[in-house]
Amino acid sequence: MPPTTPRIGISPVQETIPPVAPCTLVIFGGSGDLARRRLIPALYNLLLDGLLPPQYAVIGLGRTPMTDEEFRTTVRDGVGTHSRQALAEETWQAFAQHLFYVSGENDDPDTYTKLKSRAEAVERHLQLPGNRIFYLSIPPSSFASVCEGLERVELAAKPDAQKPYARIIVEKPVGRDLASAQAINLLTGRVFDESQIFRIDHYLGKETVQNLMVVRFANSIFEPIWNHKYIDHVQITVSEAEGVGTRAGYYEEAGALRDMVQNHMLQLLCLIAMEPPYSLEPDVVRNAKMEVLRCLRPITDHDIEQVTVRAQYSAGMAHGRPIPGYRRENGIHPDSTTETYVALKCFVENWRWAGVPFYLRTGKALPHRASEIAVQFKDIPQILFNANAQQPQPPNVLTLRIQPEEGLSLRIVSRVPGTRAQTNPVEMDFHYSDVFGRPSPEAYERLLLDVMAGDASRFMRRDAVEASWAWITKILEGWQRQQLRWLPEYPAGSAGPVEADRLIEKDGRTWRTL
Ligand code: BG6
Repeated sequence: MPPTTPRIGISPVQETIPPVAPCTLVIFGGSGDLARRRLIPALYNLLLDGLLPPQYAVIGLGRTPMTDEEFRTTVRDGVGTHSRQALAEETWQAFAQHLFYVSGENDDPDTYTKLKSRAEAVERHLQLPGNRIFYLSIPPSSFASVCEGLERVELAAKPDAQKPYARIIVEKPVGRDLASAQAINLLTGRVFDESQIFRIDHYLGKETVQNLMVVRFANSIFEPIWNHKYIDHVQITVSEAEGVGTRAGYYEEAGALRDMVQNHMLQLLCLIAMEPPYSLEPDVVRNAKMEVLRCLRPITDHDIEQVTVRAQYSAGMAHGRPIPGYRRENGIHPDSTTETYVALKCFVENWRWAGVPFYLRTGKALPHRASEIAVQFKDIPQILFNANAQQPQPPNVLTLRIQPEEGLSLRIVSRVPGTRAQTNPVEMDFHYSDVFGRPSPEAYERLLLDVMAGDASRFMRRDAVEASWAWITKILEGWQRQQLRWLPEYPAGSAGPVEADRLIEKDGRTWRTL
């Protein structure tokens, strides 16, 4: 039986979970993958953990015609396969009574009339007050129809403390460049107030990502050395073992820069580089992160060649299975120049980080699924134990592992026991699972709960989305000017393209081996 309380000698400081009022969650894209694999399992786990309000309803809305019963059966499979905690028959039966389905096209005005009368009937039946959350798990091209449809039938009420709330959750991609992101923000902002819009980045709901601020600001030892005087460089890696899988249609239009860097990786960078916020108020934290985005040195013209690398996986073997090259995958154009790998060197131009490179890399069809942030400290002076220039001591590295082996480790140099004066680097290693002994909640559990509680700290504010797109768009434009007909390749299952190695090696550094 795994322990359920931390095996540490202090009482944990509890983050207060704000009260969650009864509500109705409407999922646009309710018959889709995200609902089945992530959203419904997340709600089911919240229920098991006693975190859902006593009254709630979930209405899936999708094009596939289905009855409530058919919807319940479909999502039950999803829960069976993807839930963090096992499906328990009795709880499931109770949960299923709160699930409903409405079929309709997003651009058909009738859909919204149907949705409204169904929501009202369900809310009467379950005695719900009419607080509503609309989850837009649909392509951005449908956002306008949905917002206008909701507005037309008066389901998009503006915030009013005396009345039930209406909130929307917007799934990525919020745009494919700055102009399209601004257009989406404009149209959602026309119907909903910024305080009602929750732009989701599921990385911000990951336990280990939430821990980044705690590590930095709940320990006194890091902050004094968290700057250019002590830190040599930072590496942020998000490595994925899978290829493009069944998402060719989306991915071919996106590529690794839009899919992973614009959102998840820049958010990680913000959390590592931000100044200490003066409180944990959502906007105070988001302002601090926003400052980092403002300080990012733009990558343009000559820099594009020097500090960016993009590549595509070619055929190879991964986990004993052959993987076709990206351009041979189903649904991918044979001449595609969509990148499945990207490496960048960037700088946060402020006093704290002056001259410290942040190296970012992410790719599909790499040897492992592993995400981490490694903060490498400066070399010690070449005296005492580091006097031999031929065999320099390895520098200290603080590694914050985001997944799968959640935890952190600190590499320090230690003396090897014995009569000969020998030193060796050792890792001080902390694994979440060893210490806390239970699997962390899934990101979507945390984030759905946040929306129900109206806490926007872990969501992307409009200005941040646009600032990160502004920075990314310059890279996209630079790439476009290069007019490459073929991208460099790396065999599926290998550690990435040699071009990425060169990017960091020309600075006298190397990528960490994952
Ligand atoms: C998504 C991307 O946002 O994040 C996917 O669209 C990617 O391409 C996924 O695979 C990675 O998420 P995680 O939680 O598995 O690291």
